Amino acid sequence: MENIRDEITKLVNLLNTYSYQYYVEDNPQVSDTQYDTLYKQLEKLEEQYPQYILNNSPTQRVGDVVLDEFEKVTHDVPMLSLSNTFSLADLEDFDTRIKKLVSNKKIEYICELKIDGLAISINYKDGKLIKAATRGDGIIGEDVTENVKTIFSIPKVLKDNKTFEVRGEVYLPKKSFEILNKEREENNEVLFANPRNAAAGSIRQLDSKIVSKRKLSAFIYSVVGDETITSQNNALNLAKDYGLPVNNNFKLCKNIDEVFNFIKYWDVNKSTLPYDIDGIVIKVNSYTTQEEVGYTQKSPRWATAYKFPEEELATKLLDIELSVGRTGIITPVAILEPINISGSTVSKASLHNKDIINELDVRIGDTVIVKKAGEIIPKVVRVIEELRPINSVKYFMPVLCPSCSEKTFSKEDNPFIRCLNPDCPEQNIRKIIHFASRDALNIDGMGEKVVKSLYEKDIIKHTIDLYSLNREELVQLERMGDKSVDNLLTAIENSKQSTLDKIIYALGILNVGKKAGKILAEKYQNLTNFSKATMEELVELSDIGQITADSIIDYLSNDNNIKFIDELISMGINPEYKSNEIVSKSKFFGKTVVLTGKLIELTRNEAKNYLEKLGAKVTSSVSAKTDFIVAGEKAGSKLKKAEELNIKVITEEEFIKLVNEV
Ligand code: IVH
Repeated sequence: MENIRDEITKLVNLLNTYSYQYYVEDNPQVSDTQYDTLYKQLEKLEEQYPQYILNNSPTQRVGDVVLDEFEKVTHDVPMLSLSNTFSLADLEDFDTRIKKLVSNKKIEYICELKIDGLAISINYKDGKLIKAATRGDGIIGEDVTENVKTIFSIPKVLKDNKTFEVRGEVYLPKKSFEILNKEREENNEVLFANPRNAAAGSIRQLDSKIVSKRKLSAFIYSVVGDETITSQNNALNLAKDYGLPVNNNFKLCKNIDEVFNFIKYWDVNKSTLPYDIDGIVIKVNSYTTQEEVGYTQKSPRWATAYKFPEEELATKLLDIELSVGRTGIITPVAILEPINISGSTVSKASLHNKDIINELDVRIGDTVIVKKAGEIIPKVVRVIEELRPINSVKYFMPVLCPSCSEKTFSKEDNPFIRCLNPDCPEQNIRKIIHFASRDALNIDGMGEKVVKSLYEKDIIKHTIDLYSLNREELVQLERMGDKSVDNLLTAIENSKQSTLDKIIYALGILNVGKKAGKILAEKYQNLTNFSKATMEELVELSDIGQITADSIIDYLSNDNNIKFIDELISMGINPEYKSNEIVSKSKFFGKTVVLTGKLIELTRNEAKNYLEKLGAKVTSSVSAKTDFIVAGEKAGSKLKKAEELNIKVITEEEFIKLVNEV
């Protein structure tokens, strides 16, 4: 018997650790399926040996842990959890169980998507949002009112003066998750494992300004404390009428077969949704029947969550390709025999670096288990060693760069391998693409295809060559008409007017993202100063860590990079940085401006660039929304219209004066 007791203790401790990693650290170490399987094992043991049930067993808890930082809120009605079902057979049992418990045997179910986010309770008083709380342990949650108020889809005021509580799920759309993680990667921050963790991490941010940037959203799935409501169908429709965000993909099902069809449909189509779902919630529709069926200590008996099986599929690893990035880092990429995971075809997965390759001991020809983490990024999680071909060989990262064949470089304490050759083709192509990309110098039309073909034709070899491109060279490119060439040349010319933060970001320094670009621009004010940055200064800056400071010094101690910066400066690319604070003092900040007539000192584009840098919006037609019109020589109908509408008209001379004022 001692063994059973030990086994139960071990399971409890393990599950509690997993739960802590999941809920508190927002950093799960095992999949939901793995957790659920262990949980079921524990439940079974506890059922057989109730004398060994521990007080801290997860089966005895309603929910997760409450954090200390937020004020605590006691829920008027406890926020329960749902029982889980993993197969259609389990669901049939659920249906039978319910039918046994009620007199009326014709049960209608509502099927809803199980949104993969975190549960939230929101209180409205006389139609106004007054309080919002997380679920916490089901009894006591955390007051996250200010954070929830930043969620665009949640009304701060209802269409009716109602006083009630609603409950729902806060989530992060897949697209916002991708953008957020990309930004975090650029800023050298730890990535979120999936949208659910990102949503949970965001709502528990103490600074609601940060929360507002995260683009969270929500769906409401229940209304508490409205005596007039008779069914879940009724509740959802009413919530919708009050202006609350209700997910439209719910269905009233007349029997369990209709429930099965709903599940099958969404199992196939879930990947087309712009947010993650991890199952389907099945609820008895009628409130009277719900009361008849009742509750267990933790969850309603009248509802259950059907969990989709997590998709981990086996496939063959055909090859390991190496890709050279702009900073010279060589990343191994698994080339897979294509498989369909959650509705999309997967044929590649990142293997990250030499440490991951060693850990997995992954070899070409192996059968590997591939998983889509958070249903977005495919990952090789394991090798099935039993299926390894006898002649397989251990994989080692290359000694020579796959693009230029120069010797690669690696540090002992760093899993990344780099090519340091300044003339490495792939690296330079990536550098140029990055330099021209939207968040950097935004040279519209200078994308991957154009850069590659200019490189292959020997027209450009380094980023600086972009500024000596001419018409004859560009027309040589496929599908480049006169108009496209004009546009491209204008875009290149305009890029010279870019702001310092973007230029620093565009240099492509390892670990220097958009945010670091801004911090460095703020500190150094121009490129000349930046090129002389010292380690002492950099480590003093808040938000610039040692790793980033190292990369910057590494970059600036390379003569080729200094030469590049000097060349940019001599091209006239060396703007003085104007911080947002200064910019916001400009007369043009947040204003709508129309340019008309012929300008003498400036080109139209230069004027437009100045205005945009000062936070103005430049439009082409005059309307009541226009704040200023800049009238050059021979201004015609637009000037007339502006005068009629009493809009402020300024001359080019006045304009230049105002621009220089900040
Ligand atoms: S109903 C009594 N409906 O799933 C519990 N829950 O494990 C009522 N969830 O904590 C919950 N989508 O965070 C319900 N359409 C939906 C849901 C949903 C997601 C979450 C919710 C709950 C968890 C249950």
